[in-house]
Amino acid sequence: MSDNHIPAEQIAAQYRYAERLKELGIQKTYHIVTMGCQMNVRDSETMAGWLDKCGFTKTDAREKADIIIYNTCCVRENAENKALGNVIWLKELKKDKPELIIGVCGCMMQQEGVSENLKQKYPFIDLVFGTHNAYCLPEYIYTVIAEQSRVFEVWDVDGSVPEGQPVTRNSAVNAFVNIMYGCNNFCTYCIVPYVRGRERSRDEKDILAECALLRDRGVKEIMLLGQNVNSYMGGKSAFADLIKKIDTLGIERIRFMTSHPKDITDELIDCFAACRHLMPALHLPVQAGDNEILMRMNRRYTREKYLETVKKIRSVCPDIGLTTDIIVGFPGETRRQFEQTLSLVNEVKYDAAYTFIYSPRAGTLAAKYEDPVSMEEKTEWIEELIALQQHWTAETLKKQVGRVQPVLVETVSARSDNTVGGKTPRGHMVNFGGGKELIGRIVNVKITDAGKNTLKGTLEE
Ligand code: 5AD
Ligand code: SF4
Repeated sequence: MSDNHIPAEQIAAQYRYAERLKELGIQKTYHIVTMGCQMNVRDSETMAGWLDKCGFTKTDAREKADIIIYNTCCVRENAENKALGNVIWLKELKKDKPELIIGVCGCMMQQEGVSENLKQKYPFIDLVFGTHNAYCLPEYIYTVIAEQSRVFEVWDVDGSVPEGQPVTRNSAVNAFVNIMYGCNNFCTYCIVPYVRGRERSRDEKDILAECALLRDRGVKEIMLLGQNVNSYMGGKSAFADLIKKIDTLGIERIRFMTSHPKDITDELIDCFAACRHLMPALHLPVQAGDNEILMRMNRRYTREKYLETVKKIRSVCPDIGLTTDIIVGFPGETRRQFEQTLSLVNEVKYDAAYTFIYSPRAGTLAAKYEDPVSMEEKTEWIEELIALQQHWTAETLKKQVGRVQPVLVETVSARSDNTVGGKTPRGHMVNFGGGKELIGRIVNVKITDAGKNTLKGTLEE
């Protein structure tokens, strides 16, 4: 067992708090708003698990909830502003409903001074906690409800691995499975290592047990999660070995994210050929196409090395869907350097790219770098990049027309009961005629049409 596990008795104590709340028989509804990445989505599922254990009920209507929790993100400034704006707005709700409990948690709370600031400035906030102590939610809610006092508790300690928490998942078809937490890479623009702590991996047996349980419950697809899954258990072949083991469990589809390009091993690439259930899709954030920028980002690969990795992956798995993250306007980036990003996008021809204007994060190295390019110019650059990527996305989707693809059906369309949506192995979303009885099934769909970001098809069976 990893030495950084949270002792089982501490988790057991939380179950006791939940039990005590349940015994109080307070009927409360809760609503969790999740901002940011998949990691936060998974954390919110655990919080929902705890709140259900407390005897509370989930509601989709924020206005009707007795407990509202905001799970925040701080990776870019606009995510922070959005969270803060939303939370401040809750003050109005509380005017009409003084017993409303307002909680704020997640990455933003781990930043220095944030919790204290919220405590002083916003007396209507009842509860603040961070990413490292989220497993204490029942205790905190108990304190707020039974002892009628505010709780502002954020731990500075580096993270740990909490096992045995309850979880209420958002979907019965696909599920997130954490394999590791934290990040050691310290890319110079990124706040994540500061708010999520150092890398720590879950024990293989715990991951396999969770996957087997999900399989038994009928889950069809699992997404293995980590800030850098390639450094699972310290790196090398451990992650590939883990995938090979999960592949034998009989879960239909396996995906993972995120992979740092510097840590992609040949063993992992081989998994795309060797593992039947590993889907041909890979998110491989490049961030920039220019070597000097990559170096100043501390990405520890060159453009050439990245392109070589892409080539290797495509030689093993020609039909793989590659996606990426790109930052535009890193401090000091020149127009010519940005053009290197454009040319890299033309070389790789991604299925999709998530593009961001660089946002300085206090405490990171890059926040101290000089940044002479105006926001106006950066906005023009990102628009150019988005247009270019839209071209390649459209090209990729067009090439799918005429193919018959196994689609895992996930949703019924919001617009029509007779249209369902799901993903191809490569990760393209397909909408086609069918009823809700198809949800959770993998069906053959003939692709008939390509839109801007999604495909249309007809059921083959
Ligand atoms: N500014 C802009 N984008 C950022 N990202 C991370 N930090 C920043 C920042 N300071 C982007 C990276 C990363 C994605 C999750 O968010 O592209 O891969
Ligand atoms: Fe941030 Fe880099 Fe770690 Fe990703 S690998 S979380 S970009 S520091």
